[in-house]
Amino acid sequence: TRLGRLAALLLAWYDANARILPWRETATPYRVWISEIMLQQTRVEAVKPYFERFMNALPMIQDLAEIEEEALLKLWEGLGYYNRARNLQKTAKIVVKEYGGELPPSYEELLKLPGIGSYTAGAVSSIAYGIPVPAVDGNVLRVISRVMASDEDILKPSVKKKMEEDLLAVMPQDRPGAFNQALMEIGAMVCVPNGMAKCEECPLNQICRAKELGIVMELPKKTPK
Ligand code: ADE
Repeated sequence: TRLGRLAALLLAWYDANARILPWRETATPYRVWISEIMLQQTRVEAVKPYFERFMNALPMIQDLAEIEEEALLKLWEGLGYYNRARNLQKTAKIVVKEYGGELPPSYEELLKLPGIGSYTAGAVSSIAYGIPVPAVDGNVLRVISRVMASDEDILKPSVKKKMEEDLLAVMPQDRPGAFNQALMEIGAMVCVPNGMAKCEECPLNQICRAKELGIVMELPKKTPK
């Protein structure tokens, strides 16, 4: 099957092409969590300096739990969406009080924490803890919709859920974090929106049904049929 061949193609490509990023070099749960929250509305290149500054100021989750809100918001200045920073601190306080200062590895436990949705829970669980759970963001929705030539509306929660199930079934048990990050990376750098997809350099071009059908540009669909 198409998805059955996905993991091997992704991992080989990732090993040769993954960007060196600060939160990849040292992928502690705290660093992975902070980076994934920052990356939700901000591009990788823009996040880098904020991430370094944040980690220098608040190297441990205990530091985040204890900082004055005003100082925290000052550190967040430039990133916007300040509720993200407030939720970070709420979660840090819970983790210090109830989890002994370590973010829980479990996807289900992570999901209960403020500001952590299915994407972030999957990213932390897989990248920092090596647990095989998917992390489906907008990039991944686009890549997989194209590989499968699915014209389902990716804004529907049911479509994302189905994709999470399909990916869970084909994830490499030994490298879930690399698998998830490879998908995000291809979505960000190769299988980009609209007419800009670079199919010639895509490691998935040999299994991509949208490419086969010449409908890459039309996918993914974002409005109800
Ligand atoms: N976008 C969000 N998280 C990412 C990650 N871990 N690697 C690359 N791009 C991302």
